[in-house]
Amino acid sequence: MKIAVLPGDGIGTEIVAEAVKVLQVLDLQFEMETADVGGVAYDRHGHPLPEATLKLAKEADAVLFGAVGDWKYDKLERQFRPEQAILGLRRNLGLFANFRPAICYEQLTHASSLKPELVSGLDILIIRELTGDIYFGQPRGRRASPDGAFAGAEEAFDTMRYTRPEIERIAHVAFQAARKRSKRVTSVDKANVLETFQFWKDVVTEVGQQYPDVKLDHMYVDNAAMQLVKQPKAFDVVVTGNMFGDILSDEAAMLTGSIGMLPSASLNASSQGLYEPSHGSAPDIAGKGIANPLATILSAAMMLRFSLNQPHAADRIESAVKDVLAQGLRTADIWSEGTRKVGTREMGDAVVAAITKKTITKS
Ligand code: IPM
Ligand code: MG
Repeated sequence: MKIAVLPGDGIGTEIVAEAVKVLQVLDLQFEMETADVGGVAYDRHGHPLPEATLKLAKEADAVLFGAVGDWKYDKLERQFRPEQAILGLRRNLGLFANFRPAICYEQLTHASSLKPELVSGLDILIIRELTGDIYFGQPRGRRASPDGAFAGAEEAFDTMRYTRPEIERIAHVAFQAARKRSKRVTSVDKANVLETFQFWKDVVTEVGQQYPDVKLDHMYVDNAAMQLVKQPKAFDVVVTGNMFGDILSDEAAMLTGSIGMLPSASLNASSQGLYEPSHGSAPDIAGKGIANPLATILSAAMMLRFSLNQPHAADRIESAVKDVLAQGLRTADIWSEGTRKVGTREMGDAVVAAITKKTITKS
């Protein structure tokens, strides 16, 4: 099993180090190789996704990714910005299926900005299509406006598009995931306005006929954004396009109190995957040793389950994370009165201790 480790920028290095530490105590044989990605790769090699990094990612069974981005790169030409690294990995590895669970841990119910009763027990799975839509649609660019009231004026444009196979494959992913949960899928679209999303809705409905045991409903994205804060527990599996998924997954993540807790997986057709926390590089707290490493540690668990076929090891990590929360350990982002504030490294050490302690008790 080969893992490409790409820590990236900001808090990326700190949180990935903790996840690597956790992976190393599982008594599994991994080959782990680290490479530069994002802003740090631009600084060292002149490109956010250097050839060597892409090659390593392609060869590996899984990529463990930290985060990329820093304000200092915002003025670079788009192709050199750190975000292009993650978009390039998604495109080059064909990582079309993005799983973003939003789970509210019992001990963190109060950390949510919503009333505890609305989020207690929350467990939503957002499945975001990741390689199509307006993110990658061509043509795009700037030009003199060809028509309309402002013909001749400078304009910018992007293209929203989806092919039938792209919608079909993500719909299958969603229905199959729903079969392992409560057998409900909400497909989020904007069919009332956009041709692309009327097509989306039609194709998802067709695919749904192959899953008569799964209940499918459809919701416009504006309503979905509203329902997520009104009655989030009404959702189970949500499937949507690349841009709506980007927005709704951040909203759903915040319902749980801390985006610092949420892992994500991006898979291609051969179960090769990229695993990263749902949060970003947080340059404001980078290097301070206070970032929450749990989202990255939980991403490593998803990696074991989805790409490395080690479900038992994944369970061990997830249960260790619950243990440390039960012990009252909290990084600053999830800290509250009566709990113990710890730093990044201490949190990682506590997860390692919870894993090894259980191993010892068992044997
Ligand atoms: C995400 C991020 C990315 C996206 C950015 C960094 C390109 O917001 O993974 O949600 O828009 O997909
Ligand atoms: Mg996003």
